[in-house]
Amino acid sequence: MSDSGMTLHLKVWRQANPSDAGKMCEHTLHGVSTDQSFLEMLDVLNESLIKEGEDPIAFDHDCREGICGMCSLVINGQPHGPEARTTTCQLHMRKFKDGDTIVIEPWRASAFPVIKDLVVDRAPLDNIIESGGYVSVKTGQAPDAHAIPVPKEAADLAMDAASCIGCGACVAACKNASAMLFTAAKVSQLALLPQGKVEKQQRVLNMVTAMDDSGFGNCTNEYECMAACPKAIDVAHIAHMNREYLGATLLTRL
Ligand code: FES
Repeated sequence: MSDSGMTLHLKVWRQANPSDAGKMCEHTLHGVSTDQSFLEMLDVLNESLIKEGEDPIAFDHDCREGICGMCSLVINGQPHGPEARTTTCQLHMRKFKDGDTIVIEPWRASAFPVIKDLVVDRAPLDNIIESGGYVSVKTGQAPDAHAIPVPKEAADLAMDAASCIGCGACVAACKNASAMLFTAAKVSQLALLPQGKVEKQQRVLNMVTAMDDSGFGNCTNEYECMAACPKAIDVAHIAHMNREYLGATLLTRL
């Protein structure tokens, strides 16, 4: 690598609109700093495309701090790229070498249609949340701390589930394009806590129905979702959701 940075060969998915067939386009980028984030590298590429009068590459991002779940790129075949437990926006170019070829694609799932280039429509995840991913009981004023005892193990598991940022990497990594890890995290997060238990049966029934209706595939225990998840959400939450779903289904038949 020269003092002026790395040279990278980028193969980027370009698709003008949802009905366009799309294709890979190649770009060579010089002077990439190892301190740049992956998205900053794409910013630099876009600046050069704009200077050349070309259409910049559309890609999603918001916080660039690993919080919002917007940055959704498949990098060299891996959702969020080669670094475990890391979102695309937190991935740095020091993970790549001078002369590398990097293939950049959008999330691939029929439930996530491409809007443009690397941007996909992840509204189906919002539909799952709308169907029950909240607590609607009236709880009055905020209670004093520790007024409602929560077992430590349940609190820890609920916090782990709540760290899901809804990026959709689990769907992109799964050969079935299953959203079970996402849905399970949201079900667990609420069902494990006293405030969420009140509505847990109807919630899990509604959220699983919304998931199925959105066109996501089923879980066949591949565990790719957990490997790709930047927040390392555990597949044990899927087993928890399945138990909650079975219990709720049996209750509706009583
Ligand atoms: S841009 Fe928000 S998590 Fe990456």
